[in-house]
Amino acid sequence: MNYSIALIPGDGIGPEVMGPAVEILDAAGTKAGHVFTYVELEAGGLSIDRSGVPLPDGVVEKVSQCDALLLGAVGGPRWEKLPGHLRPERALLGLRKGLGVFANLRPVSLLPQLRSACPLKDEVLAAGSPGGKAGFDLLIVRELTGGLYFGERGRSADGSLAFDTETYSRTEIERVLRTGYAAAAKRRKKLCMVDKSNVLESSRLWREVAEELAKEYPLIETSYMYVDNCAMQLVRSPGQFDVIVTSNLFGDILSDEASVLTGSIGMLPSASLGSLDAEGGKSIMGMYEPVHGSAPDIAGKDIANPLAAILSAAMMLRYSFGLEKEAALIGTAVSRVLDSGLRTADIAGKSGAGETVVGTRAMADAVLEAVKSAPWTEGEYHA
Ligand code: IPM
Ligand code: MG
Repeated sequence: MNYSIALIPGDGIGPEVMGPAVEILDAAGTKAGHVFTYVELEAGGLSIDRSGVPLPDGVVEKVSQCDALLLGAVGGPRWEKLPGHLRPERALLGLRKGLGVFANLRPVSLLPQLRSACPLKDEVLAAGSPGGKAGFDLLIVRELTGGLYFGERGRSADGSLAFDTETYSRTEIERVLRTGYAAAAKRRKKLCMVDKSNVLESSRLWREVAEELAKEYPLIETSYMYVDNCAMQLVRSPGQFDVIVTSNLFGDILSDEASVLTGSIGMLPSASLGSLDAEGGKSIMGMYEPVHGSAPDIAGKDIANPLAAILSAAMMLRYSFGLEKEAALIGTAVSRVLDSGLRTADIAGKSGAGETVVGTRAMADAVLEAVKSAPWTEGEYHA
C-alpha cells in the first residue's frame, strides 16, 4: 500500500528525532512492501521566523490531504517573549483543533530494561498492580481540542485581572470517553475517569456523561477519581491504572507526571486521534508526536533520545494505517536495542552496569539495524 505522511520536524531537537523516525518507517515499509511518501511542512518557531506566523494558512489543509501527520516538536526561548497568539505553541493547538484530533493517547509503561531509571521502589510498583508484579502499563487519554486551552480568555481593561474558561459540551466529553472505552476493550478492561467534580461544574458534566456511558460498556470496569487524588495515586501505586480518561488540562499535567515514572519523557510517544472508522479501529485523521518538547538546551548536540519519535511513528502505523504487525516490528526493534544495553543519557541507569551510553544517531542506527535484520516473512514478524 501507499501512504502519504505530512511531516513537521519543527524546532529544537524536533528535526534530529524526526529524521531517524522517517528512516525507520522507510525500513519497515521496505520490509513489508509499503511505500511512504512525505510532504514536509513548516509550523512553529521556524515558521514564525520565515513568515511571521506559527501556523501559516493552508498548512492544516495540506495535512488533511495526507493520511497522517508526524510532528517533531515546536517552541524555544527565542519566541518566548511573543504575545500568546503568535507563540510557536499556537501551531500545535491550531493543528489539533483544525484536524479535529480530539483524543490524545499517551501510553506510559515501565519497560523492564529501564527499571533502574524509574524512581519508585519495588513495593510501590507492586502495590495494586495486576498479580502484584512490580510494574505498570497505563494509557492516558487526554481530551485535546476543548476545555481550558480553547475556552474564552481575556484581561480587564487595565490588565490587572485575567481569566480563562473551562467549557465542555456533552458531545466533546462523550466522544473522548468512547475512544477511551475502545482502547480499554483491547487492554485490561478498566477505565478511570479523572475529574474535579467536587468543585467544578464542567467536571460534574464529565461525571454525568461518564456514568451514563458506563452502562453501555458493562464489560469494562469504570471508576472515577478526583484529579488531585489521581496525581497522588500515580506515584503511590501506578499499577492500579489501565486507561485514564480526562480533560485537556488534567491530561497535560498527569501525563508529564506519569512520564517521570518510565525513567524519561524521552521515551513517550503519543497519538492524537479524531473519529474512528466504522469498525472503531482506525482513526480518520491522526497526528503523532513525541510527548517531549523541543528541548532547545540539548538541540544539535546529538544527545536527544529518538525513541519517543520512533515509537510515535509506530503508533501511526497502528492507529492510522491499521498496520499492527509493522508497528510491532518497530516496537520489538526498540526493545531489542534496549536489551543490548544501549542507552541515551536520559535513560541511563544510575548503576550503569551493562549499559553503553550513546548519542541520538547511534541509538537511531541501532534501531534501524534491528528493523532491517528482523525476521519477516509473508507479511509477518517472527520473533
Ligand atoms: C503537550 C505540551 C503542549 C500542551 C504545549 C506545548 C502547548 O505540553 O503536548 O503536552 O500543553 O498541550
Ligand atoms: Mg504537556
